[in-house]
Amino acid sequence: MQTGTFVQDKVVLVTGAGGGIGRDFALALAREGARVVVNDLGVSVNGEGRDLSRAQAVVDEIKAFGGEAVANGDSVADWDAANRMVTQAVETFGRIDGVINNAGILRDRFFFNMSVEEWRAVIDVHLNGAFYVSRAAAPHFKSQQSGSYIHMVSTSGLIGNLGQANYSAAKLGIAALSKSIAMDMAKFNVRSNCISPFAFSRMIGAIPTETPEQKARVERLQKMETNKIAPLAVFLASDAAADVSGQIFAVRANEIFLMSQMRPIRGMHTEQGWTPQTVAERVIPAMKPSFYKLDRSQDVFDWDPV
Ligand code: NAI
Repeated sequence: MQTGTFVQDKVVLVTGAGGGIGRDFALALAREGARVVVNDLGVSVNGEGRDLSRAQAVVDEIKAFGGEAVANGDSVADWDAANRMVTQAVETFGRIDGVINNAGILRDRFFFNMSVEEWRAVIDVHLNGAFYVSRAAAPHFKSQQSGSYIHMVSTSGLIGNLGQANYSAAKLGIAALSKSIAMDMAKFNVRSNCISPFAFSRMIGAIPTETPEQKARVERLQKMETNKIAPLAVFLASDAAADVSGQIFAVRANEIFLMSQMRPIRGMHTEQGWTPQTVAERVIPAMKPSFYKLDRSQDVFDWDPV
């Protein structure tokens, strides 16, 4: 049943919406009146295989409660396919108002063992995919003078995590892409924001549970339901978010955070210019108290989800 009209008649393309967080985005958008293009390639967590029935199953769920949706089984990692998704939205529903770049895979490996293939696969789906789908929608957003981009990022990139050089680099790259889109398209009334979710999807289920510490962490993560991310995404897709752009939010169960963005925290200058010796003697001792530790996401978010 439709429960509200927050995004009534808006057309939103959600990538990777056949399961996990994306599926909940599609359902929540449709319940608030949106017409949804449910994209999903139907791959495994590491990006293998292909199952087009996953996107269709979500479309069937939406239609079952009287909502409007259409399935798309293309890959975001392909420029032509990204254009086909946007074309499908416009041909099926007459327009496109929102893009949620949510599709994702993992190929975790310590940096010193990571293959070029593992690097490329993750960059292709996350960073290149976010660019392709966003870029394909841009002419429509520009000509209609409205549109909302929402990109899923991760504290693995914003803060740090072990064994995820490919994923961290892609996700921090997406944060920069979002800021660039927000700036380049502000004059067309187009907005771009990021959400860094914490949710117990199959992606988190892939975290090893060998040590007691890892086991306890996964038990905490299980409390973070995937559907808790959707209210913020629906809001950002709506006209109520007209003055919200260029921001990075994080959502964890019932908590919502506004994340900081890069700014200088200490500065020093000298009239003579620096030498390696004076850098060592003056700059580093002055700045060292402000250095960041090699924090992982869970070192910063070190309390239980609310
Ligand atoms: P998930 O694995 O349940 O969903 C990802 C979906 O993307 C899958 O259905 C998959 O088939 C689809 N997909 C993968 N490659 C694709 C491609 N090339 N084209 C189209 N679809 C493709 O994962 P989850 O957890 O729902 O993740 C959603 C997003 O949130 C991802 O971008 C992920 O990186 C991000 N994220 C999730 C976190 C979490 O705690 N679950 C934490 C931080 C970020």
